[in-house]
Formats: sequence, structure tokens, C-alpha cells
Amino acid sequence: MERTEIIKYEDLTTRIPAKELSTLLKVSSSLASTMDLIEVLQIAIENTSGMLDLETGAIYTFENGELFLGATTPPLSPQFPDELRFAKLCDHPHINNVVSTKAPVYLEDARLAPLSIAEKIVVDSRHLVSVLYFPLLLKEEVIGVFIVGTTSKTRSFTNNEIDLCYILSFQVSLAIANALLYKKAQQSIADLSRAYDTTLEGWSRVLDMRDHVTEEHTLRVVDLTVALASRMGIPDSDLGHIRRGALIHDIGKMGIPDAILQKPGVLSDTEQKIMQTHPEKARQILSQIDYLTPAMDIPYCHHEKWDGTGYPRKLIGEEIPLVARIFAVIDVFDALTSDRPYRKAWKKEEALVYIKNQSGKHFYSEAVKAFLEMVEE
Ligand code: C2E
Ligand code: SIN
Ligand code: SIN
Ligand code: FE
Repeated sequence: MERTEIIKYEDLTTRIPAKELSTLLKVSSSLASTMDLIEVLQIAIENTSGMLDLETGAIYTFENGELFLGATTPPLSPQFPDELRFAKLCDHPHINNVVSTKAPVYLEDARLAPLSIAEKIVVDSRHLVSVLYFPLLLKEEVIGVFIVGTTSKTRSFTNNEIDLCYILSFQVSLAIANALLYKKAQQSIADLSRAYDTTLEGWSRVLDMRDHVTEEHTLRVVDLTVALASRMGIPDSDLGHIRRGALIHDIGKMGIPDAILQKPGVLSDTEQKIMQTHPEKARQILSQIDYLTPAMDIPYCHHEKWDGTGYPRKLIGEEIPLVARIFAVIDVFDALTSDRPYRKAWKKEEALVYIKNQSGKHFYSEAVKAFLEMVEE
């Protein structure tokens, strides 16, 4: 079968029955509803076989001489081994023919046709009789092949049906291209996030060095924060922001002079005022960085207190973002149990007594409760 003429839209609407046009519309809207490649292929093959009243179908995508079996109808079982999805073009001469001529191939009766070993295995195991192969073309390039067929008796195809396959093949090619682009974009986003997170860890290490804190110590604080947030019902989708926020919670201290930050004694009023600008400095830094704006709550609000006596904005109670209320407990516990230039570390028990004492004053009582439970475990 040769068919290379371009089908005009006007021709199609007069030649294709209304019922099939409506199926086409349905297929193209369901194709547009997902960006998942395997799902696109599955929708395409099920609808094509369904529309043509055929028992079986398969879609291969094609890249660098390798075929990938993306979908079949009836569907592949989830246990279908991944390695069996891959096939070599040279083992499938009929598919190869479609790829090289960019035109459909029709086997009236596959049982009588000369087949390669691989083809014979497929034909026998799927009980194929009539088989129609169609190229999936994108900008003149073959990006896949879809195959539909019967399993009981032979069957020929009308011009209308071939036209339908043509239109479907364009739709499916576009949907595949979209899904591949989307996957690439997602991949780039994931790569970028990883690069950003590595940069953040670098910043965090610089901050740690100035504060004479070890990396392990900081990561412990971060892990505790994420664990406590999760216990308190914060959704998993927020935990990434919380992790980043906790990691750089004192990034505003980059703007505080060493003479104050590392002063071995108590701070004067002026020094304390300067020190207390670190959350506002964090806000200024982070609001410039889209990626970190959602991680702002902890760096900006971790020194607010439940009773409204904190800084920088003297927020009261639930005005303070929940994650900052949670983090405050961990930050103070961590500060008290660590050596500082101005004092030695407190004992863990003393710090816990202090935290309990400040419940409902400095701290949100629910966060204290959950923290104490967590520490006990
Ligand atoms: P940091 O050392 O990480 O302390 C964080 C928070 O833990 C403090 O916030 C405070 O709420 C609590 N905290 C830490 N040490 C003590 C303590 O000995 N007693 C009590 N009751 N609470 C404590 P705060 O006070 O807003 O301080 C923010 C940052 O300012 C501190 O971070 C530290 O870098 C610096 N800072 C605070 N006080 C002094 C000081 O007397 N001398 C020096 N050199 N720095 C200080
Ligand atoms: C396969 O190639 O494994 C299945 C093809 C088909 O559905 O005919
Ligand atoms: C083949 O060419 O591999 C047989 C047809 C099919 O895969 O469905
Ligand atoms: Fe701080």
C-alpha cells in the first residue's frame, strides 16, 4: 500500500463519518490531558484499535535504531520485564520497512507472510492475523510505529480507515513530542534544583565556619526540624522548603561583623540591636532569589516569640508562621546545648527544663509538646 498524498482538512470532514470524527476529537483531547509518555501511548493505541474495531495493537517508539515497546492493547501487565520492551530494528523487517519508507505496511495474513524469527515470536504469541503498520512522523522523521491488527480472521482496511490512521498518527506524534519535551524540561528543573541545593550546602558550610559549628551538627538540626515538622502534620510537599530554610536559617548573620558574632562576652545594647537585624538581612537576601522565597519563613521569623516579645516584627501567636514556631524550639535547644563564645554548653536536661518552662511564653506549646515527645523517643 502506497499513500503519500497530503490529506486536506476539507476532504476529511466530508469523507470521514461523524461518529469517527467524534472519536478523533475524544482521542485528541485525552492525548492532551497527560504529559506522561507511556500514558499517551496507551491512550493512543487503545483508541485506535477501538475505533477500527480491532482486537490488538502496539506502539513502538524509535530512537537510534532501537525500538521501545511503549504500549499494547490489551495492556502489558505491570510485571512485563522492562528489557523485553527493547527490540532491535533489524530483527523486525516489517517495522524496518515502515521506518525506511515512512509509509504504512499491510499484512493481510501474517500467518502466511515471510517473517523473521522475532516477528514470528510476536505474531504467534499474540495470535496476529491481519496487521497494519503505521509510521509516527514528526517533521519528516519517524519517531515510532503503531501497529494494529486482528487475532481471529483477516480484515482489510477502507480508505476512510487509512485516513483516520493518518490523522491519528499526526496527533500521536505531536503528543509524543510534547511528552518528551515535558520530560526534558522536568529533568532540567530537577538538575537545577540539585545544583541550587549544592550551592546552599556550600553557603551553609561558610556560615558554620564563622559560627564555629560543624557540618554534622547543622545537618542534625536540619533533620530534627524536618522530623518535627512532619510529626506536626506539615505536608511532605513543604518539607523541601523547610529543609532549605533550616539549613540557612542564620544566613542573615553573614552581615554581622565578627567582632559582635564572636564576642566572648555579653553583647552591649547597640551590639544586640545589630545582632537582631539578622532575620531582616535574611529576608533581604532571600527575597532576591525565587528558588528560596518559599523557604523564607524560618530565616525571617525564627526569633519571633509566641507571646509577642520576639523580633524583628513582634508577631504574636499564630501570626508567626507555623514552621518558624517549630524551628524556634529546635534552634534554642541546639544553642543552649552548644558551646558559645560567651558561655559553655548547658546540660541536655537543663535545656529541656528551660524549653518546658518557656512553653506558651517564648514557644508555641504544641511544638514544645511534640518536641519533648520526639526527644523522649
Ligand atoms: P544563637 O547563639 O544561635 O542563639 C539562638 C537563640 O537561642 C537565642 O536568640 C536565644 O533565644 C537562645 N539562647 C542562646 N543562648 C542562650 C542563653 O545562654 N540563655 C538563654 N536564655 N537563651 C539562649 P537571641 O538571644 O535572639 O540571640 C541570637 C543570636 O545572637 C545568638 O544565636 C548569638 O549568635 C547572638 N548572641 C546572643 N546573645 C549573645 C551574647 O551574649 N554574646 C554574643 N557574643 N552573642 C550573643
Ligand atoms: C509485542 O510486540 O510484544 C506486542 C505486539 C502486538 O500487540 O501485536
Ligand atoms: C513485528 O513486526 O514485530 C510483529 C508485529 C507486532 O509487533 O505487533
Ligand atoms: Fe538566628
